[in-house]
This record gives sequence, structure tokens and C-alpha cells, in this order.
Amino acid sequence: MLQPASLDLLIALRELLGEAHVLTSGDLSAYEQDWRKRTRGQALAVVRPSSTQQVADVVKACAQANVSIVPQGGNTGLVVGGIPDNTGAQVLLSLQRMNTIRAIDADNLALTAEAGCVLQNVQQAAEQSGFLFPLSLGAEGSCTLGGNLATNAGGTQVVRYGNARELCLGLEVVTAQGDVMHSLSGLRKDNTGYDLRHLMIGSEGTLGIITAATMKLYPMPAARLTAWAAVPSVAHAVKLLGLAHQHLGAGVTGFEMMGQFALRLVDKHYPQLRVPLWQDTPYCVLLENSDSESEAHARQRFEHLLELALEDGCVSDAVVAENLSQARNLWHIRESITLAQAEEGLNIKHDISVPISSIPRFVEETDALLTREISGVRLVNFGHLGDGNLHYNVQAPEGCDTQAFLRDHEDRVNALVYQSVKRFKGSISAEHGVGSMKVDSLPHYKDPVALALMQRIKHALDPQGLLNPGRVVR
Ligand code: FAD
Ligand code: MLT
Ligand code: ZN
Repeated sequence: MLQPASLDLLIALRELLGEAHVLTSGDLSAYEQDWRKRTRGQALAVVRPSSTQQVADVVKACAQANVSIVPQGGNTGLVVGGIPDNTGAQVLLSLQRMNTIRAIDADNLALTAEAGCVLQNVQQAAEQSGFLFPLSLGAEGSCTLGGNLATNAGGTQVVRYGNARELCLGLEVVTAQGDVMHSLSGLRKDNTGYDLRHLMIGSEGTLGIITAATMKLYPMPAARLTAWAAVPSVAHAVKLLGLAHQHLGAGVTGFEMMGQFALRLVDKHYPQLRVPLWQDTPYCVLLENSDSESEAHARQRFEHLLELALEDGCVSDAVVAENLSQARNLWHIRESITLAQAEEGLNIKHDISVPISSIPRFVEETDALLTREISGVRLVNFGHLGDGNLHYNVQAPEGCDTQAFLRDHEDRVNALVYQSVKRFKGSISAEHGVGSMKVDSLPHYKDPVALALMQRIKHALDPQGLLNPGRVVR
């Protein structure tokens, strides 16, 4: 039975948005269940505003009724941060109808888009105007620009272009009070006090609701070449990264590492992708070289790098994609690891970073700890080596009941991995965020003064605790 206050709020929301955009029945799993299907919540209502003003009106109505709000974009987040809790008392605010590209400003190399724009559509809009919007990740067909900014998403081009934060020039944000902060100017320099944009980016919907953003564009490279290399060890992969920086300079736009078991899963679940070189090597690397001159120039530099690496022994074999379709297939293999892992069953997911120089020792020591702890454990190690960021995932031994594995081992495995991250002065969340999955671990690994400041900022900006409560900080 709904309380009278909740019924009043539903009436108010229907008046604001229309009956069709306040959903309370039917199949709401697309909004209420997380992407990995680990958690299912229940919302009082799913609301779908179509303008910044409507978002502001919804926030005001919820504030008056003291009902909390969970903002959601594409619901591809991996830390259970964008779905409602199970109380049936929260409003799930989907930004998906706010999907207009508002402007492309060629002289300022900038694009302004609404928060609900799907990332791939933003990339395509930039490309149609002759520019590159470099943010790129496996979920780009359904994640949204607002979600990317709210999580400060990384992806596969960070090594050259930075993460979502570094690509953002300005934001439009609805505050917890329902006011609109208009900061979409797109200025490249503005030192008029605290940069609130950076406070909002990565705040996972806990400080404000992003409704639009101005993002950087780049000139389209003349050529982008992709290579796939077998490397004898993680240390050799790190050495190859150093060689790539030395010989390609700013041309290094992607540097991903994939362990043999991660590739075995892709081969098992998607054999049509024909994963190259994986059977005879513990790790493969995917490298991308972008060049502003020509394809011939790019190819010559790339082949020179690979020859040096083969001579040096840090690469044992390599293929360079001959054309765009081969390059796309290599990237598709890399981006299918998450899906292949999901096909294999639930696993314990990590998204850690340590200094690049420490990655070989981190992997060696953590692998040893886990294999000693759980006999037959399978390690799915892959990620953005160019950024020192690994998705160091832990899969149950073959044939083991995954639910039982998670129940019995998840806390211990997390503690072992996070302690190892701490020893190497790393971070327990490099790109996916904290959400509700890591909120209780954070106090053990975050500087206490930094955490206390985060709590005070949350309280100052959202004293009623209306925006995504229980996520990031408690
Ligand atoms: P959601 O999942 O809807 O929300 C994520 C968080 O942001 C929630 O806390 C939500 O409340 C908040 N939020 C969403 N929209 C807004 C808004 N407009 N205003 C305020 N808060 C908001 N992530 C990476 O960083 N790098 C990767 O390489 C990567 N690869 C992925 C591959 C796959 C196959 C999948 C499934 C996920 C991947 N992710 C990756 C994680 C995820 O896609 C990103 O975190 C993405 O940025 C989330 O966008 P979204 O629109 O789906 O956000
Ligand atoms: C990736 O890099 O593919 C993602 O961050 C998704 C994942 O960790 O599974
Ligand atoms: Zn990633």
C-alpha cells in the first residue's frame, strides 16, 4: 500500500510529465536491474523527463515529498549505482529522452549534447562534421554521455585523449534543490573560482543531475592502424608500451592487454571472431597508432616499432590489420571479453589501477595469492595497460556453482585484491566508480581526510540526501 504522500507525488509527477512518462507498472526490469543482473531494485516510479526544465521540476517535486532520486542513463554501469534500492520508495529518473545534439562548434572544436545521448550517436555526430570524439568503450551502443560523465568513464582511448573528465569543457546540471547550473560556455580557460564541473564529473549522480555537456572534439586522424601482438609476459607488455611511447609519441591512441584465459572465453563463446595468436602466449596486446599524415606513414612507423619489439624479444609474434574491417574485428574481440565473461557466469569483478611500472609485480603477487587461496580459480585479466588500469576479474573454478562461489569467496577475494592494490599504492576503482558495490570498501582504502571532505561536500550540496543516497559515500 502506498503512503498518501507517495500517491500525491505520483499525481504531481504525472501532471508535470504526462501519464506516459511516469511508469509504475509493467516490465521495468530494464530500469530496475543492473547490467550484470546481480541486483534488482524496485522504484516508486520510473520518470522520463524530456527537458532540463522537466528534470528541475521533478527534483523540486521529489524534494518537497522528501523522496530520493536515482538518475539513470543507459544502465550499463558495473557497480550497481544507477538502479533503485529495493524499498519501492525511490524515483528512478531516466535521462534517455534527453537525446538532442544541441550544437557543434567547429571553431571552438566543441560539441554540446544532452545527457541522454547515446555515446555512439555523439561519436557519429562528430564524425559527420569531420571531427573525432574520442571517448570509446564497449558499452558505447547504449551508455549515455551523462552516464559517462557521472562515472568519469575511461575506455580504450584514454592513453592519448584522457577520460571523460579531460574531454569535458562545460556542464548543465540540475542541483538537489531543483535549480539549474548553466555552465555550458565551453571556454578552454576560466579561473573564476571553484571548478564545479569537476565536482560533478565522477560524482555518480550523488551531487547533481547532469542534463547537458559541452565536450572537446579533435581533428580526425588521417590514418588509424591496429596491431595485435603476442607478448611473453606482463613485464614484456610494459616494455612494449615504453617502446610505443618512444617511437610513436602521441600516435599511441590505444594500448590494451588481454590474458590468455580472457581470450579463451571469447574463443569459446564467440568462435566466429577468430581470436588470433592466443593459444601459444600468456598475454596479447592490442595497439592502435593514429597518424595525422597518411596511412603509408602510419604503417611504416608501426612496422618499425614491431620489428624493434620482435628483435628485443618483448613481442613474440604480431599481426597488423590490413584494413578497417580487420581492425574493427580486433577491437571487437577485445570488447567482447566482458560479454564472454558474462556468458561463462557471474564472477568477481575488479577495476583497479596501480602505477604502470608496478603492474607486472602486482599481477604476479596477486595471481599467486589467489591461486593459493582457491584451488582451480580462473583469472580473467585484461584491460587498459596504457593507463595502468586492469580488469582483474576472478572466475569460479570450472564446474563450480557460481552463486555458491560468490557467497563463499567474494569478500575474501576482494580483500586480497584490494590489499594488494594498496601495497602497490593503487586505486580500487579506476574507471567504473564506487556505486553501491564498493561503498563499504572505500573507507578502508581512501585517505580518511579525503573521505571526510567528500562526505561534507555531499552534505553541503544535498543536505536532504535526495540524490542517489547510499552510493559513493554514506
Ligand atoms: P548508468 O549505468 O545509467 O549510470 C551510471 C552512474 O551514473 C549511476 O550512478 C547513475 O546514477 C549516474 N548517472 C547516469 N546518468 C546521469 C546523469 N545524467 N546525471 C547524473 N548522474 C547520472 N566503463 C568505463 O569507464 N570504461 C570501459 O571501458 C567500460 N566498458 C564497458 C563495457 C561494457 C560491455 C559494459 C556493460 C560497461 C562498460 N563500462 C565501462 C561501464 C559503463 O558503461 C560506464 O560506466 C558508462 O559510463 C555508464 O553510462 P550509462 O549511461 O550506462 O550510466
Ligand atoms: C572494459 O574495459 O571492457 C570494461 O571496463 C568492462 C569490464 O570491465 O568488463
Ligand atoms: Zn575498462
